[in-house]
Amino acid sequence: MPSSVNRTVSGLILGPILGIESSCDETAAAVLDADGRILAEAVLSQEREHAPFGGVVPEIAARAHLAHLPGLVRDVLARAGVEIAAVAATAGPGLIGGLIVGSQFAKGIAIARRLPYVAVNHLEAHALTARLPGLVEGGAAFPYLLLLVSGGHCQCVAVEGVGRYRRLGATVDDAAGEAFDKVGKLLGLGWPGGPALERLAAAGDPARYKFPRPMLGRAGCDFSFSGLKTAVAQTVARLPPGALPVQVAADLAAGFQAAVTDVLADRASHAMAMMRGQASLLVVAGGVAANQAARAALQAAATAQGFRLVAPPIRLCTDNAVMVAWTGLERLRLGLEDGIDFAPRPRWPLEALAP
Ligand code: KG4
Ligand code: ZN
Repeated sequence: MPSSVNRTVSGLILGPILGIESSCDETAAAVLDADGRILAEAVLSQEREHAPFGGVVPEIAARAHLAHLPGLVRDVLARAGVEIAAVAATAGPGLIGGLIVGSQFAKGIAIARRLPYVAVNHLEAHALTARLPGLVEGGAAFPYLLLLVSGGHCQCVAVEGVGRYRRLGATVDDAAGEAFDKVGKLLGLGWPGGPALERLAAAGDPARYKFPRPMLGRAGCDFSFSGLKTAVAQTVARLPPGALPVQVAADLAAGFQAAVTDVLADRASHAMAMMRGQASLLVVAGGVAANQAARAALQAAATAQGFRLVAPPIRLCTDNAVMVAWTGLERLRLGLEDGIDFAPRPRWPLEALAP
């Protein structure tokens, strides 16, 4: 079917859709055709704006979204070269300033062009990414298991359908990416810490410093990372004052990364055991899914549990607008349109989506 052809589903016209993401520090826009094929996409990271502050500054993020979104949307619409038939924007959870910017921008387009509007839950967007056409051979049919490991979230979720999520376990303190960022800071790396820490760990000996593996073997699939972060901090505090020798920093990074990957593989294994007989697909998403050691450990865990691991390409694991547009399509296919009065929600757990 040509990409500009519209189809009617549940009384709604389904055609190309514009998606907007602005919940944290990535400004993103994408246009997908009615079948979910990507016609144009763009992501603008604000990493450089926030790096001097060692983390995301909400006010700076909101202003950056406001500055960049119009150009980004104009660009993807021009490159897609189709008339859009719907608009979707992340409406939560996330930083309220950015959510307001993205939602109001999307609503403005929806009102001006008389198009349906979908208020997308960012976590649902991560959860449904695996269903994008072409990503999983034969498609990712419900139900499947999602391991979401980002800077703000760390949870195992049974994905049972659009709007139907069962949380199997989650972190009781820090998210996995947050732990990478905090330990990165301890080791004198820039922000975000994850990618730099992974590079440093490549030259390190993971056995030199043995760190705890919180929750390992514990029933269920909850996570905890704050004790691990404290253990690294205490080890650093015992070292001679001054800058860390490069090899010491690399060994600390490798030891920490090994502990995190052991924990992720163990918790995911428990989650897979909890879903045995119901699902056979493990999908990993979020920035930490970019970590090669984590991917390898999860691959081994999935194989041992008789599951197939799906790790989307990294640009679709981290925050993007393709997943937002796709979630818009999934919801519109079910006739789920939102009112223009839908207020963005800084907190919006997946369970709250249940019909
Ligand atoms: O999903 P994401 O882009 O944004 C949200 O937090 O929603 O994830 C960012 C997080 C950061 O904490 C970052 O340090 C971590 O993902 N991260 C990594 C890697 N790349 C990004 N952590 C470990 N290894 C990586 N290669
Ligand atoms: Zn995210």
